[in-house]
Amino acid sequence: MEKRTEFLSYALPYWDDKEIDAVVEAIRSNWWSRGPKVSEFEEKFAKYVGAKYAVALNSCTAAFTLALEVCGVGEGDEVIVPSMTFCSTANTVVHTGATPVLCDVLAENGLIDPDKIEALITEKTKAIMPVHYAGRACDMDKINAIAKKHGLYVIEDCAHAIGTKYKGNVIGSNGNLCCYSFYTTKNIATGEGGMLVGGDEELIDRARVLSVHGMSKNAWNRYAKGGSWKYEVCAPGYKFNLTDIAASLGLVQLERLDWMNGKRAEYAAIYEEILEGLDSIKTLKEAEGSEGCWHLYIINVQNDKLSIDRDRFIDILNNEYNIGTSVHFIPVHTHPFYRETYGYTDEMLPEASKLFEGIISLPLYPGMKEEDVRYVAQAVREIAEKYAK
Ligand SMILES: Cc1ncc(COP(=O)(O)O)c(C=O)c1O
Repeated sequence: MEKRTEFLSYALPYWDDKEIDAVVEAIRSNWWSRGPKVSEFEEKFAKYVGAKYAVALNSCTAAFTLALEVCGVGEGDEVIVPSMTFCSTANTVVHTGATPVLCDVLAENGLIDPDKIEALITEKTKAIMPVHYAGRACDMDKINAIAKKHGLYVIEDCAHAIGTKYKGNVIGSNGNLCCYSFYTTKNIATGEGGMLVGGDEELIDRARVLSVHGMSKNAWNRYAKGGSWKYEVCAPGYKFNLTDIAASLGLVQLERLDWMNGKRAEYAAIYEEILEGLDSIKTLKEAEGSEGCWHLYIINVQNDKLSIDRDRFIDILNNEYNIGTSVHFIPVHTHPFYRETYGYTDEMLPEASKLFEGIISLPLYPGMKEEDVRYVAQAVREIAEKYAK
């Protein structure tokens, strides 16, 4: 095949004049920090995911931090986290003073293995943090049942799962604390941004207060006519609020979310079709009950069937075919901090370790052209065939 000369990015946000106009309007409104657009985004996002309450934040990491704090997680506690996730999920547990207890994942899709959770529960366990990895829903029926049986909180990492459904219901609607990311590569992008949603008004209200320094008054309108300058700090909070500029972007992105997720699904189907039948390339599978939002398209290179390994595969895609890729994720237990602090080894998390050896995230975003998707899929096929053992 003829190789492209222009580099194809691994991920890009989708935007047009609507995003530009929305940001310009926010700038002209003088609401540059938290203002009415943030409230509108909270309402519309909560409605979309079917949650009762929502607080907009400047990252998903902030959402984890607040969720853990309002659940009372702290020194001496334990929180169960899958190893196949971004470091942020586990790091935020460490910051509370609690210990992240890493759980292995399912070989076929990288989601937390619900059958391995119970063995990790001790009298110190306070919460489980399932990650809807790559946009696929975890087995929430099993996870919620385990949590109920042991009196644990469930804090869902929905960074990849904006619009994902579980058994017909949008992720975010089951009342658990659910944390979203609007980082630039996510299905809704605001540059940096996040949202915490849930069904417990008290928990979300407390998170809202903590998101602005623990100030008791609705601080965002304290400069408006009728707003009061008086506030009291009722807890040492954080500076985690979203801005109106970002929320303006989020509102436009939310409007096009179904279309954008539809494009992702359409492109994923093309990958599936072209990559089918290759011995050396497996693709991660949809989970039972899940209707994923296709945040990522991940292939799993079978190193034993090729004369090159995954890293070399990535090099060839990049240097010879001009294709950007990524790896989601370097499992938490393999990072030096986690190995050295908690003594994790690859043998303790065998499926996550094995998956890590083969996974590559291919470009998947609504702004790609169909011919780009076909080009990437053909490139993967060509490499797999050329280096087949
Ligand atoms: C699975 C997962 N969880 C959490 C995060 C953290 O999101 P944020 O960058 O908005 O804090 C990410 C970000 O990439 C992620 O992929």
